[in-house]
Amino acid sequence: MADPLAGVELPVVQAGMGGGIARHELAAAVSEAGGLGTIGHAEPGPLARELAAARALTRRPVAVNVLLPFARARHWEVAAGADVVVTFWGAPRRRTDGVWLHQCGSVEEALAARAAGADGVIVQGEEAGGHVRGRTGALELLERARAALPDGYPILVAGGIAVAADVRAALAAGARAAVCGTRFVLADESRAHPEYRRRLVDGRETLLTELFGLGWPAAPHRVVPNRATERWAGAPAPALGAVNRVASPLARRLPERAQRAALGRGGARLPLLAPAPPTDDGPASLVDSGPLYAGATVARIGDVRPAAELVAALCAG
Ligand SMILES: Cc1cc2nc3c(=O)[nH]c(=O)nc-3n(C[C@H](O)[C@H](O)[C@H](O)COP(=O)(O)O)c2cc1C
Repeated sequence: MADPLAGVELPVVQAGMGGGIARHELAAAVSEAGGLGTIGHAEPGPLARELAAARALTRRPVAVNVLLPFARARHWEVAAGADVVVTFWGAPRRRTDGVWLHQCGSVEEALAARAAGADGVIVQGEEAGGHVRGRTGALELLERARAALPDGYPILVAGGIAVAADVRAALAAGARAAVCGTRFVLADESRAHPEYRRRLVDGRETLLTELFGLGWPAAPHRVVPNRATERWAGAPAPALGAVNRVASPLARRLPERAQRAALGRGGARLPLLAPAPPTDDGPASLVDSGPLYAGATVARIGDVRPAAELVAALCAG
């Protein structure tokens, strides 16, 4: 079994954040600073270009994230060019000959990933930002996974990590490394829309919802509230689920750009809201009609800094 963090100096991994948030600039800056940077899931063409662009910026290991519900054969061909492939959301299955990590929300899923040949797992707690598979706190899940998996099997932990003390606590509890998403949305190199970042800097609370589930139903996600969540706050979860289930097959046939244009307008009559977050090269209207993914740590983060500084600060002391 390969060491998933071979050649990575520091125990900090930047989470793959899809929809255009984590591209080559962020992944390369994190890797160059000694952590492991991850390029977020994208269509195979852009994913290949992002990986090549990251390679031009750093010679250190770089990871690629593949979201299983959206993975096609070409994704695996592109991902094979990364040093580490991180998969998420679905039954773990080895699809690469290279180093493979699977992000899990339960001990059962972690055991299944190991049985499928994963070189390590990321256990994700319920406080995490973005799509949330965990149903318990990250450190609690880590403790249970540590007890269930063999000694020495690499377990990384995601959710609730924003400062060096969080990293230290994770390592002391037996994690091989800490995985951070929200902290790196607020890095200079992230491609989150400037207004999305401002909302997170000011944000103090998050909610877990299935609202932005068009094309990806039954997948809870943690966000900072915005106009869309306020507009649909009263809609019962089963009704939201039904709308997303019915509309998703059509939405998934549209390319990502068309989804943003046609369906990301705010769901005036029906909550037809897609998972694409606002990026710096997309429409600003998504700040109030799209998901402002963020974890509970948003309450403790109040600045935007260069990724290299963040890596160093997370590992200080
Ligand atoms: C903006 C954002 C987008 C995310 N997108 C993805 C994704 O595309 N794939 C994935 O595996 N995880 C994704 N996640 C979840 C992360 O992998 C990780 O579990 C989470 O960020 C950890 O919690 P934290 O945000 O509190 O650090 C996303 C998280 C955020 C904040």
